[in-house]
This record gives sequence, C-alpha cells and structure tokens, in this order.
Amino acid sequence: MPMFPRRTFLILGASAAALFAAPALAQNKTYTIGYSQCNSAEPWRANMDASIKAAAKEAGGAGGHAEIKLIAKDAQNDRARQMSHIKEFVTSKVDAIIVSPLDTSLTPAVAEAFDAGIPVIVLDRKVLGEKYTTFIGADNRIIGAEVGKWVVKTLGGKGNIVELKGLSSSTPAAERSEPFREAIKSTALKIVYDADVEWLKARAREKMQAALARNPGKNSIQLVYGANDPAAIAAYEVAKDAGREKEMKFVGVDALPNEGIEAVRKGMLDATFEYPNGAKEAIKTALDLFAGKKPPKTITLGTRLFTKENVDKGGEKVGP
Ligand code: FRU
Repeated sequence: MPMFPRRTFLILGASAAALFAAPALAQNKTYTIGYSQCNSAEPWRANMDASIKAAAKEAGGAGGHAEIKLIAKDAQNDRARQMSHIKEFVTSKVDAIIVSPLDTSLTPAVAEAFDAGIPVIVLDRKVLGEKYTTFIGADNRIIGAEVGKWVVKTLGGKGNIVELKGLSSSTPAAERSEPFREAIKSTALKIVYDADVEWLKARAREKMQAALARNPGKNSIQLVYGANDPAAIAAYEVAKDAGREKEMKFVGVDALPNEGIEAVRKGMLDATFEYPNGAKEAIKTALDLFAGKKPPKTITLGTRLFTKENVDKGGEKVGP
C-alpha cells in the first residue's frame, strides 16, 4: 500500500479558443492526456502542475467541440510509482502522455509507451535514447555555463566554492555542473565541498551544515552554487543560523516568482537563473499531435538571469 492515497486529478477543459492558435482537432471528440509528474511536493513542480492544468483547460476544444481531458498523477518522488503510472496510461490507451521523469530509470517505461504507439512528451529531465516523441526543456548546459560565467565575474576569478548538486541519476545534475566547472577551471576558484542534495531542500540543509563544519574558518567560503533554488535558499538559511551568511554569495536555478526571485529581492540569493517549466509548450505539442502535425524532437527553452540590479526590470536574457 502506498503511504499516501494516490492523488489523481481530472480536468475537463471547456470548449474555448484562447491561448492557442487552434490546430484542427476532430470535433466532438475527447482527447485524453496522461500527465505523470515525479514529485509535486517540490515548488517548481507544483508550479508546473498548475501551468499544465491551466493550459489544458484553456486548450480544451481549441475553438471547436473537442474536449481535452487531463489525468494527472503525482509519483511522490518514487520511481516504481511513476513507472506504474506510465504503465496505467498505456493500458488505458490515452491519446498522449506528458511525463516529467524522476530520473533516467524511467527510460524503459517511456520507451514501452512510445513503442505501444502513444506519443510521449518528456519535460525537463531526460530519458536515455530516442524512444520518445518530443523533449521540452531549457538547456541545462547553457545554464551551467552561464552560472560559471557569472561566478567568475562576481568573485573576480578567485575564492572557495561549495557546490550543492542535483540528483546524480537525473540528467540536469551533471548538465548544470560540468559546464560550470569548465568555466571556473582556469581560474583561482576552487570547489572546497560538493554533495548530491537530490534537488531537495532538507538534504541541502544537511549538506550545507557539513560544508560549514568542514570549512570552519571565517571567510573560508566565498560562494554557494545550489543546483536549484531550494538548495541555494537552504544554504543561505543554514549559513545565517551559523552567523556566516554575509561571508558568502548564493546562486541558484529556477527563478520562480514566489521563491528564487523573491529570495533575490530579499537579499538571500545573489542570483538565480530561470528554468521555465515547458507546460504551455507541452500542451501545445499535444494539440499539434492530435491535429496530425509532427512536432520537433526537441524544443529548447531560454533562460534569464535575476540579480538585485535587474530584478525590478524582469531580469535579463542570457545564453544564445
Ligand atoms: C524540481 C527540480 C527543480 C529543478 C528541476 C531539475 O524537482 O529540482 O527545482 O530545476 O527539478 O530537474
């Protein structure tokens, strides 16, 4: 038995045009989208869920009488549960699956759905191989490189860094870390502590305590790079509890308005890089598929940098 009751949401979209340039959908038909989220408890994912539901609702019918029915499932950070959600969608023959996988262990489940002829739209974290229809997400390698550039500039190329990394079995973890390390390689910046905090705030708190304990001297750490904003904010809070937050800078990724951007405004984070959730694009891609259009294999979203200087102007676009 699962520890929590399984949460299932059903949304029947009203027949409405709005939001989307309406692709031609068959009339008087209900299209069912199975939406598999790996962990709705994380703020960035709660935001994605809300965006998916809103976009599905708005897309319903797209000017005609077709309906979009969204079946949303939250795996609560449990791989086996997410696999079984995807299998359920295959068994019930949904018209498309949108999945934000916990990590690459979801590859076989996604491939199975794809092989069964169900279009699969993958969001944010990648699966391995080519057995999916479309991947939508920002380029984490670009984000990692931009963080590196910003850190080199902000610290003048010198200082000690703590890196709190994402879940190593999920693709954004290495993608955000490797280009960052590449960017600081030929400088006098040094990583004095790093750890996998699994994208989780509670893990980041523990690891930041360890980082401070290992580097006890005043001014022995100049910056913390949190692979997401929950990690960076946790690091700030732990440093503050230890009376050391003014010794170092904090940078994160996600830039949710009520989380990372708010933390920049409050002076907790020195920078955050936006990581858009791709929800609108996912629903748009599903509609295109239903209308018989072939979507691109990859849809790459951009990023923005938010700092104290630019936050009131909505941040600035970085990367290509
Ligand atoms: C949420 C999250 C985000 C992060 C993304 C990476 O689970 O950790 O904070 O940007 O996933 O996949």
